Amino acid sequence: MREVAVIGIGLTKFGELWDKSYRQLIAEAGSKAILDSGIEGKDIDAMYIGSMSSGRFIGQEHIGALVADASGFSHTHIPATRVEGACASGALAVRQGYLSIVSGLNDVVVIGGIEKMNDVGGASATETLATAADQEWEAFFGATFPALYAMIAKRHMYEYKTTKKQLAQVAVKNHANGAKNPYAQYRREITLETALKASPVAEPLGLLDCSPVSDGSAAIVMCSADIAKKYKDNPVKIIGSGQGSDTLPLHGRRDICTLDATVHASKMAYKQAKIKPRDVNVAEVHDCFTIAEICAIEDLGFVKKGDGGKAIDEKITTLDGLLPVNTSGGLKSKGHPVGATGVAQVVEITQQLRGEADKRQVKDAKIGLAHNVGGSGATSVVHILEAM
Ligand code: COA
Repeated sequence: MREVAVIGIGLTKFGELWDKSYRQLIAEAGSKAILDSGIEGKDIDAMYIGSMSSGRFIGQEHIGALVADASGFSHTHIPATRVEGACASGALAVRQGYLSIVSGLNDVVVIGGIEKMNDVGGASATETLATAADQEWEAFFGATFPALYAMIAKRHMYEYKTTKKQLAQVAVKNHANGAKNPYAQYRREITLETALKASPVAEPLGLLDCSPVSDGSAAIVMCSADIAKKYKDNPVKIIGSGQGSDTLPLHGRRDICTLDATVHASKMAYKQAKIKPRDVNVAEVHDCFTIAEICAIEDLGFVKKGDGGKAIDEKITTLDGLLPVNTSGGLKSKGHPVGATGVAQVVEITQQLRGEADKRQVKDAKIGLAHNVGGSGATSVVHILEAM
């Protein structure tokens, strides 16, 4: 298998971006990534774009071709493919691009991720997101994602004595990190008291336990590692890539507090990278709700099952902790434009491994992990990256 490197990264600000069109967002992220990589347009062999539900959010499908066109590549007739796996669409696009290079088919690919969710309003956005839940067993009965993750939280509290305070502390930590990220939707710190007093959304989750509805785009340029230094002095290698799936509805799971898709995907990625969870220096995990970060650090093997809440108390995952998690602010504070999220996570890890994360920089970060989940855990994707 060939090795793969990330040589360029680009991001738009995340948030309520009323004044920017879908085309403008993807073109902005893509052109930043291409400029950063040092490649020229003629070097690009293919594009893969993560987008969850553009048809419902902006009434536009056929996103692969649209993105190639918006980026000025329609005249090159380059293969441009949309990839969908709910909120994991971005990481799936990264993985498809990665596999295309590993196989020898492509040398240089551009990966984009995008979603513009605010145009339809909150209620419709919630309904659209719920299409990634099981229609027959969950959405039909009114279960939205906040409700599904609330069920996970309740069970985690029952099984492992996890507390509302520990959930709130995840939000406090991620807002503190997001305040240092110029691209974050919410660049403000919050106190534990504010988080605990926030208006209820789905018991036990309040407003500040939830990631927001966001617009935004992210892009990366990847190439075969043997040519990476031709373009970029400080490329970052992808040393592990894993993907897992599980039942669509929660009730089919062996244990609703464990995302077995994540366990599977991470084992695959750790094995390929020939590392253990303790070797990871910095991680971006899928904190669509605060409980999701607690489950993620357990399922990725950073702490024992059930100890996720305790790890928050012990400040293991803060910026200056043993394993900083969600240095970007995570989905909670940076924002969660669903199709863009998985790509944006790789952007943050790349910045960390290049030593370019400014006030969020983790000292001596050599190995980083990005973890992106679709729905309540039916799809999970893990990438492990290392400075070259
Ligand atoms: N975190 C922090 N602040 C938030 C927020 C969030 N998640 N969501 C909204 N806000 C802020 C807004 O900026 C606004 O502040 P302002 O009054 O100072 O302008 C205020 O809270 C109210 O915003 P509004 O848009 O009216 O909130 P809402 O009640 O319509 O939506 C949620 C709040 C939590 C229901 C919505 O963000 C949501 O559905 N999140 C989950 C998204 C999701 O399921 N993603 C997929 C995961 S799998």
